Amino acid sequence: MSERLRAGELVAVPTETVYGLAAHALDAEACARVFAAKGRPSYDPLIVHVLDLEAAREIAEFNTQALALAARFWPGPLTLILPKSPAVPDIVTSGRPTVAVRVPAHPVMRALLARCGLPLAAPSANPFGYVSPTTAAHVQAGLGDRIDHILDGGPCTIGVESTIVDARDPADPIVLRPGGLAREAIEGVLGRPVRTHTTAPRPADTPPTDPAGELAPGLLERHYSPRTPVALRDVPFPSEVLRQPPDGAARVFFARPAGADADRVSRRDDIHWLTEAGDLAEAAHNLFALMRALDAAGHARLEFEPAPTHGLGPAINDRLRRAAARG
Ligand code: TXA
Ligand code: MG
Repeated sequence: MSERLRAGELVAVPTETVYGLAAHALDAEACARVFAAKGRPSYDPLIVHVLDLEAAREIAEFNTQALALAARFWPGPLTLILPKSPAVPDIVTSGRPTVAVRVPAHPVMRALLARCGLPLAAPSANPFGYVSPTTAAHVQAGLGDRIDHILDGGPCTIGVESTIVDARDPADPIVLRPGGLAREAIEGVLGRPVRTHTTAPRPADTPPTDPAGELAPGLLERHYSPRTPVALRDVPFPSEVLRQPPDGAARVFFARPAGADADRVSRRDDIHWLTEAGDLAEAAHNLFALMRALDAAGHARLEFEPAPTHGLGPAINDRLRRAAARG
C-alpha cells in the first residue's frame, strides 16, 4: 500500500476513530482525487495524519499548549488546528493558513505511516454527508465502486471522529468538533476550562459565506445522515413507549431500558439502545454501525434519546443533532 500511496493512489485506512480515505498529503493531485471520490466540496479541508510529533512539526507550527496536548494525547483521537508549513498544498487546507494534524493510534495505520514515511491526508471514508464508516465493509458499501484499495483493520474501537481543537492561541484553545477525546481530559491537561465553538447552522451544499473567518468550515449542519429521517429528542423516552404497539418508527434508547418491560422489549425490532449499562465509550463505539443497520431496515423514522452531556456524550449528541438536521 505504501507504493500505491507514493504513486498518488487512494487507500482506505483504519484508524481508532473511523476509517479514513488516505492520500499522499504533499501531492496536490492525489488530494484532489480524495475530494472527487467523496463528492466533497473543495471548501472543506482535510486532516493530515502523521506518525509522531516530530513529523507533525514538519507540517505545523506548535506552541507550548499544543505541545502539551500532543505529548499527553498522541497517538490518539485528537486533531490540532495550527499554522501550516508552506509544504502543505493549498488544496489540503482549502486555502487556509492553518492545517489540521493528528497522530492516530491504530496499529495498522501506524505501520502504514511508518512504512510509507509520508504525511497522509484523510477525511472519513464515506460519501460526503453520509454516516462515517467504522468497518471495512462500511467503506466498501459507500465507496467500493470509486476506490481500489481498502486496508481492513477490523472495527474501529472508538467509533466517532477525533476531537478537533483550534490550538492556535495558547491562551484560548477551542473545541471545534467534540469527538473521541472528552473535553474534560483536555481541560485536565491545560488546567483551565475550554470552550466549545458551535458553528451557525448552515445547510449542506452551501459554502461558508466567510471562508477566512469561519473556524470549522466542514462542520455542516446536516451531516452523518442516514437516508431514513432522524429525530433527536430533548429528553429521555417516557417508559410508555415500551408498551406502545409498533408505529413504523425505530426508537433508540441511550441505555437498555430496565424494568418489567425489558424482556418483551429485547424481542422487538423497533426498540434499540446504544449501550447495555450506560457506558459512553460503548455507546460511541456502537453509534454509526447502529445508524447504518437501522437505515437498511426500512423503518419510517429513527428516533434517538440524547446521551448524557459529559465524557463522549457531547460527541454522540453532536452527531445525532447533525443527522437530524434538515437541509
Ligand atoms: O477521526 C477523525 O478525525 C477522522 C479520521 C479518519 O482521522 N477524520 C475525519 O475527517 O473525521 P473529516 O474530513 O471527515 O473531518 C475533518 C474536519 C472537517 O470538518 C474539516 O472542516 C475540519 O476537520 N478541518 C480540517 N482542516 C481544518 C482547518 N485547517 N481549520 C478548521 N477545520 C478544519
Ligand atoms: Mg467526515
